[in-house]
Amino acid sequence: MLCASNPLSTQDEVAASLNRDYNIPTFAIKGEDNDTYYSHLRAALEHKPQFTMDDGADLVTMLLTKRTELVPDVIAGTEETTTGVIRLRAMAKDGTLKYPIIAVNDAMTKHFFDNRYGTGQSTIDGVIRATNVLLAGLKVVVAGYGWCGRGVAMRAKGLGADVIVTEIDPVKGIEAVMDGFRVMPMAEAVKEGDVYITVTGNKSVIRGEHFEKMKSGAIVCNSGHFNVEIDIPSLEKLSSGKKEVRPLVDEYKLKDGRKVYLLAEGRLVNLSTAEGHPASVMDMSFANQALPPNICARTTKTSSRRCMSFRSTWTRKSRALSSNRWATGSTSSPPSRNITLLPGRKARNSPCHSRLLDRVIFVGAQHAAPLAFSNCFLRVTDTHVGSLHQLT
Ligand SMILES: NC(=O)c1ccc[n+]([C@@H]2O[C@H](COP(=O)([O-])OP(=O)(O)OC[C@H]3O[C@@H](n4cnc5c(N)ncnc54)[C@H](O)[C@@H]3O)[C@@H](O)[C@H]2O)c1
Repeated sequence: MLCASNPLSTQDEVAASLNRDYNIPTFAIKGEDNDTYYSHLRAALEHKPQFTMDDGADLVTMLLTKRTELVPDVIAGTEETTTGVIRLRAMAKDGTLKYPIIAVNDAMTKHFFDNRYGTGQSTIDGVIRATNVLLAGLKVVVAGYGWCGRGVAMRAKGLGADVIVTEIDPVKGIEAVMDGFRVMPMAEAVKEGDVYITVTGNKSVIRGEHFEKMKSGAIVCNSGHFNVEIDIPSLEKLSSGKKEVRPLVDEYKLKDGRKVYLLAEGRLVNLSTAEGHPASVMDMSFANQALPPNICARTTKTSSRRCMSFRSTWTRKSRALSSNRWATGSTSSPPSRNITLLPGRKARNSPCHSRLLDRVIFVGAQHAAPLAFSNCFLRVTDTHVGSLHQLT
């Protein structure tokens, strides 16, 4: 079962092929409105998942708040991205996370490559495809110097841009300075910037007070959290009108005559106006996604209502899997030193889940990733541990 994790990120031809050629029910249409997006999440949940693979935690949130009767059937899940992991950790902390979730984003083989090099390249690709702007010589403001921000700043610099970083974490700010970037608050950066890219996971990083000071012609986009990093309502309040001047490029005419160009309605620009990350980096991320269902399929008892973190290298992970400590269901100690158990609620024993999983919801339908995933998944479920080595 597949649905989108973002209304703009689906590639319709991929979704159609998954349905037609692979018989995978797919609920996703590029450009779907909010109502359709949530109706698709609901439709996916109608299939009563045993395993969820989310990207941003919208589906899991709906499951845990609106479809609680489905929870007992869910064995476990995974979460792909930083923002989703933050949301789920908060749920684990307040006791509302009702089944174990593995934080795929925490794997070095995820954030080190996908967030940094994948987002770095594909975000710049999205800006260029949407606008055809020449970045050399422009001042590019990157908000956030985490994994994604480092990648975006590095790639923009490589294309000849003068990169300015904004950060709220002083240590990351110093790191950016030592990497050769100018660092300043957004209130200062808006006096200089030509292109703005937010990758913070935070809300309202660019707000009304910033739009008021931007140069005319500024290009603003987000590659971080949903469509909330740019405060679009405040931009609309300052504007006398807007028109779409190129696909997914909205020109906002401010009341004082300046123009601001917003890309992809403030949603993830790399997924909306480009094709997301190249397949080679997604291979690593989706291999991380493919491992947890395999563990569950081999597990005799599920573990606990916890958010777990994969921090291992592949070699150590394979060793952890073969030691099969998690599969014992023991909760007195972490299942393996390679899997960090975050504080969670008391473990529950659930029925035997040694059968293969047959109801999995995968969230996110950009480029060929679901195809890659479905191949990985079939290999994992059809065979056993040996296939893990193939995946790596
Ligand atoms: N576009 C994609 O394909 C893609 C891929 C991976 C992650 N993401 C998303 O990108 C976002 C960032 O992910 P990450 O892995 O880099 O996270 P991260 O935690 O490594 O980095 C985020 C950084 O932003 C900083 N920050 C927070 N609020 C800020 C503000 N108001 N101004 C300036 N800096 C601020 C934080 O201090 C931190 O250093 C998340 O929402 C994540 O889900 C997107």
